[in-house]
Amino acid sequence: MDKKANDIALFNYYRDAELRGADLILRLVNRAEILDLQEPLARHLADEAQHAWLWTERIRALGGQPMSMDDRYHRYLRRKAGLPTNVLDLLALIFVVEERTNKRYEEHAARADVAPETMQVLAEVRTDEEWYLAWLTEQLQELGQSEGQERVAATLTHYRALEAEAFAAALADEQKAKREGAETRE
Ligand SMILES: [Fe+2]
Repeated sequence: MDKKANDIALFNYYRDAELRGADLILRLVNRAEILDLQEPLARHLADEAQHAWLWTERIRALGGQPMSMDDRYHRYLRRKAGLPTNVLDLLALIFVVEERTNKRYEEHAARADVAPETMQVLAEVRTDEEWYLAWLTEQLQELGQSEGQERVAATLTHYRALEAEAFAAALADEQKAKREGAETRE
């Protein structure tokens, strides 16, 4: 697969991850017990949608087609973690997903062959993701005062393990799709 096709496929995964992030937040925004989180969650939702749009623009600029992806990562996470029933689970799940997103963007930005337009999108989305990680860390620490720091740490460990399994499965899928794409072009 050439670099352009590779980038289009990768940006489609990024776009899909942002849309699924938005979907998760949208489902949680309406929960009555998290009324005091409405404002940051609404901002997060708006940003995730904007990030999906930025990747859509990059895909189109490269002559690609934005696609609905069969994203095993989020499918697996949903099946394993379900939809959180309390604020601690909700924040922990969003935190580990954001942590991964940020890490993927950080690794991408460190590559030698990143186009300036892509770098611009990476910088914009990373600024937002870092804001969320800082905000979520603050919320989790605050929650630790009432729920116990040990319980918060254990919940994060629990979701990190689920997330790592989902990510490994998703990566295997992406690599398989790339190999199949390369075979089709040969
Ligand atoms: Fe995002």
